[in-house]
Amino acid sequence: MIETVTELSRLRAIVGGWKREGLRVGFVPTMGNLHAGHYSLVTLARRHADRVVSSVFVNPTQFGPNEDFTRYPRTPEADTSGLEQAGCDVLWLPTVESMYPFGVELAAKVHVPGVSALLEGAHRPGHFDGVCTVVSRLFNQVQPDMAAFGRKDYQQLAVIRQMVADLAFPIEIVGGDIVREDDGLAMSSRNQYLTADTRPQAAVIRRVLLGMRDASLAGTPRAQVEAEGAARLQAAGFQVDYAVVRLPDLGEPGEGAGGARVALVAARLGNTRLIDNIEF
Ligand code: PAJ
Repeated sequence: MIETVTELSRLRAIVGGWKREGLRVGFVPTMGNLHAGHYSLVTLARRHADRVVSSVFVNPTQFGPNEDFTRYPRTPEADTSGLEQAGCDVLWLPTVESMYPFGVELAAKVHVPGVSALLEGAHRPGHFDGVCTVVSRLFNQVQPDMAAFGRKDYQQLAVIRQMVADLAFPIEIVGGDIVREDDGLAMSSRNQYLTADTRPQAAVIRRVLLGMRDASLAGTPRAQVEAEGAARLQAAGFQVDYAVVRLPDLGEPGEGAGGARVALVAARLGNTRLIDNIEF
């Protein structure tokens, strides 16, 4: 049986007991409205740990003022039963008050420079400060030995890895593969904002990313790959925030050099903002 915990003292007692038994603790932080992508991270954490804690907390500080914090989907019953089926031992459900005891404005903040400023950071100012701050708090509350993050949020994973190295969190960070719908659309809680009209269009992102990968591997200049990717998205009705090819650390590749790359897209269809990426 999964245990739902809302008191930090109870969470510490459970995790403390596991640690005294010598058990390894895995952690999967989420904002709820869980789908197969989240559950795959629970499965991954189970492979790396003896016990798994998952958290559901819709973190106000990582949403911009005009973003979807209030309408973000909240489905606590389905999340709880799904987590139990996926093999999660404890569901940690902090309140906003327990997460920000001095209020959101006066709370200490964690800022990771460099990688936070690019791409998502440029389009969502303050977003990664909110993510790093809440993930730091969650790490200190749960005190896991490992934590799983999805490669769907490629830049988030990079920012978290840098934060963990820089602040010396004794936590192994493991990245999970992107889980997709049958037509290739990356699963996301935000997909349900799509309508019957826009849902089929959303799968174009995956096809554009595959095209950007193939063109890059065929030697097409990066500027052309990026311009064609953006143009295909615009032609399909998207407003494009970015369509880029980067080094694995998100640095800009030099022209002509081979080696590992990642193509990343962020684009809006109506009021739905979607992100996806492909590594090659
Ligand atoms: P959320 O969007 O709920 O995602 C929780 C975790 O699930 C993240 O690590 C994300 O990368 C992963 N995930 C989402 N969709 C996925 C998919 N289709 N395939 C694989 N993994 C997927 O990311 C957050 O919440 C928040 O920023 C959080 C880290 C919880 C901090 O508030």
